This record gives sequence, structure tokens and C-alpha cells, in this order.
Amino acid sequence: MDPSDFRRHGHALVDWIAEYLANPERYPVLPRIAPGTVRDALPPAAPEQGEPFDRIFADFERIIVPALTHWNHPGFFAYFAITASEPGILAELLSAALNQQAMLWRTSPAATELEEVSLAWLRRLMGLPDVFEGVIYDTASVSSLHALAAAREAAVPGVRPLGLAQRPDVPRMRIYCSEQAHSSIDKAVILLGLGHEALYRVPCDDEFRMVSGALAAAIAEDRANGWLPVAAVATVGTTSTTSVDPVAEIAEICRQENIWLHVDAAYAGVAAMVPGYEWVLDGADRADSLVVNPHKWLFTPFDLSAFYCRRMDLVRQAFALTPDYLKTVESTPVRNLMDTGVQLGRRFRSLKLWMVLRHFGADGIRERLGEHMRLARLFADWIDASAGFVRVAPVPLSVVCFRADADDAFNERLLEAVNAGGEVFLSHTRLQNRFTLRLAIGNLRTTEAHVARAWTILQETALQLRTPVEQ
Ligand SMILES: Cc1ncc(COP(=O)(O)O)c(C=O)c1O
Repeated sequence: MDPSDFRRHGHALVDWIAEYLANPERYPVLPRIAPGTVRDALPPAAPEQGEPFDRIFADFERIIVPALTHWNHPGFFAYFAITASEPGILAELLSAALNQQAMLWRTSPAATELEEVSLAWLRRLMGLPDVFEGVIYDTASVSSLHALAAAREAAVPGVRPLGLAQRPDVPRMRIYCSEQAHSSIDKAVILLGLGHEALYRVPCDDEFRMVSGALAAAIAEDRANGWLPVAAVATVGTTSTTSVDPVAEIAEICRQENIWLHVDAAYAGVAAMVPGYEWVLDGADRADSLVVNPHKWLFTPFDLSAFYCRRMDLVRQAFALTPDYLKTVESTPVRNLMDTGVQLGRRFRSLKLWMVLRHFGADGIRERLGEHMRLARLFADWIDASAGFVRVAPVPLSVVCFRADADDAFNERLLEAVNAGGEVFLSHTRLQNRFTLRLAIGNLRTTEAHVARAWTILQETALQLRTPVEQ
């Protein structure tokens, strides 16, 4: 592209983005399109001849935008609501322009060292000790995979050279997590070759937290039956209800049993920054590893997962491998990020974390997280005071689980009808085997008025669904 064209399109693009961010409510949160719409609107093959950017952008607006789910919409209350904040967006733009590939210190000293600095900032903000070395991956799923790979490395000698097949010296391994732990733990166990049966799901109490006594009992029983307990995963902020496992108790069991403790704080770890919420990471200082996702509740555009490990040497032991063509000789020892995981190439993700942390400042972050939790409590109060709805779980952070006081089919219809309106988007889960609605607050653009509007829509829609249609 000609530099002057680039400048013109760049300005227009930034204007478009600014307009989009200023007014996300002009779009329905969920696109009103049928599956296949985008695919069918595009030719089956790439063009032979290059096309002018104006034409490409016109198609972006015509075909792509109507098919977007608007995660930036203040009425987005599904899953975990997230935010692409302005400093994060600008950092992503720069990151693409600079095209840093930080596999080696030499291939991007800035990306390598900024990753160290920004992760140390985040670690200290969360009150975690400096013994944790950090590395950035794309997602919590990949972070937890590396955690459990390191745990396997610690528990079983020779996995790297020998693998696991046909090894009579290696008993069946066991990983423990709660019934409410995220499915990424299942995937990690499967991928590490332990077999899905290696994952034991420890029961939860009636507030959806792991029962630590049940963990201890399961480990004892497994040992008696010849299993090798390898790791326990404690969740700080479970996906369905944001319940927080008793990490300190679990840490003590892991210490006694000499097994790895991984803390999945993907969503809720950042809450520890907020005065009064330090407790969410109580005991996490004793973990072997921990993951927190700034792309969830720290205003960082997707994707950025921060992985902290007390024994990063084990991650390196598992994965460091330097072919001749990647050998470098620096005058002083350097960190090469390719050594801390499966992937070779790495994006310059730390740039957005650094810019987000600097832009908001610790106080600005605390204030916004605190406001999200206030809004969640407010919504929970409305549910509690209403006749037609019931709350299904405690609200420790910024997610409210509830249902209309009716059967599952009604609640499913309610959710569909509410989401079809386009103003709000909520998701669901299953708790105590009942269909449950979730309202997750985490988007910077969500205000009390949006939460109130969601509540009005829910009540009005429930009323309409309850009112018999006149013949
Ligand atoms: C507790 C928890 N852990 C892990 C994940 C997986 O996150 P990611 O999409 O970053 O892999 C999620 C996703 O919501 C989650 O809630």
C-alpha cells in the first residue's frame, strides 16, 4: 500500500473505531443473522488481482459488521463480560505494526523485557510474592496446560525422553479439581496423555467451593489404590458462579501430599487488587503456579493470559529445545521466551498490558472493579426483593446467578426471548441440575442504567411469557 494511502486509510480506520466505541449501542449485542450468512456472501476463492482498500472496507462494513457479536456493548452480560479499552486497542495497533516476534531476546529485546516488567507489576498489584516468574500466553487454557505439564515433570522422572507409554514404573496419575472447575483442565489432562479418567472432580459445598476434606480423602483413597496424585487445581472465580475455592486449605493438603498446586484465577485474580477483596488470593502465595487473564477483567483486548510459576525451571525442562538455527550468544545471560512453552513465536502482548496498567493506574483499576462488584450486588438485591425470580448462588464478585421462579423450559424461553431483543445478552449455566441464568458485569462501558435496563427487560419478558396469549 502506498504510504499516503496508508495514512488516509489509517486515519479513517481510527475514526471508525472511535465512533464505534463511542456508540456501541447502535448495534444489537447479538447479530441477527442466520448461520452461513458471511460464508455465502464471500467468494469461494481469494481474488487473483489485488483490490483497493476502500472496496475491502466497504465489504467489512456490509458483510462483517452485521455478523459481529458486540463484546464491547454495555449490554453484554454473558459469559465473562470483557472490555477492549482504548489504550489496549492502540497497543494492539502498534503491536501489529511493529510485528515483533519475541521467540528470542535478540528477536525482540523490548517485547522480552517488557513482558517481565509488566507481569511483575501485575503480580505485585495482586499481592503475590516475587518468587513467581511470569510468562504471557494467549489463553488460560494454555496457561493451565503448561502448569500441569510442569506438575507432570515434577512428579514423573523422564517424561521428556521416554514419554509415558509402556512404562511399568509410572503409575496412573491423578489430577484433582472441583466439580465447578473449567473444562480447560479436562483438556489439559487429555492433551498431556494422562487420560481423561485421570481427572478427579472433588465435590463442592452448597456455595460451589471445593470441599477440601473431600480432596484429602480422595488423595488418600487414590494412593491406597495405586494412583499417583500429581496436582490439584484450585479455582478462584469459577466460571458458573465465581465461587472461590479454599486455596489456603488446599495449599496445605498439597504441601502435606507433596503435590503441585495450580490456581486458576483466570477471571477473579485481579479482584485481589481491590481493598477488601485481597482474600480471593489467600493461600495463593503458596501455589506452584497461577493463571490470571487480563483479557477477562482487566480491560485488555483479547487475548492475554498471565501465567505465573514458582518452578519455571520445570516448564523449561519440559519444553526448552534450541536447534542450531536458533542459537544466539549474548554478552550476558538473557531470557528467551521460546524456552517457556510449546510455541516458538510470540506476539508483543505485553505492550497492551503495560499500556493498560499505565493508562488506568492501580487506583483507576480498583475503582472500576469495585464499581462492577457494586452493580452485581445491586442486581442481586433486586432479584432477592422480587417475587418472580430467585437467586441461585452467592455473589462474591461481579456475576449473579438466578432463575425465574418456574421450570427449566420457561427459563430457557426467557433467556432466548431476552437475548432476541438485541439490547442485552445474558448466558446460562446449570446449577444443582437446574437451568440458571447468569448476569456477568465486567465491561467498562456498562453503567447502572444498563444493569437496570437488563432487569426491566427480564421482568417484562417474564411477564409476557407468563401471560396466556389471547385466541
Ligand atoms: C475459571 C476459568 N478458567 C479458564 C478459562 C478459560 O479461559 P481461556 O479462554 O483464556 O482459555 C475460563 C473461561 O471462561 C474460566 O472461566
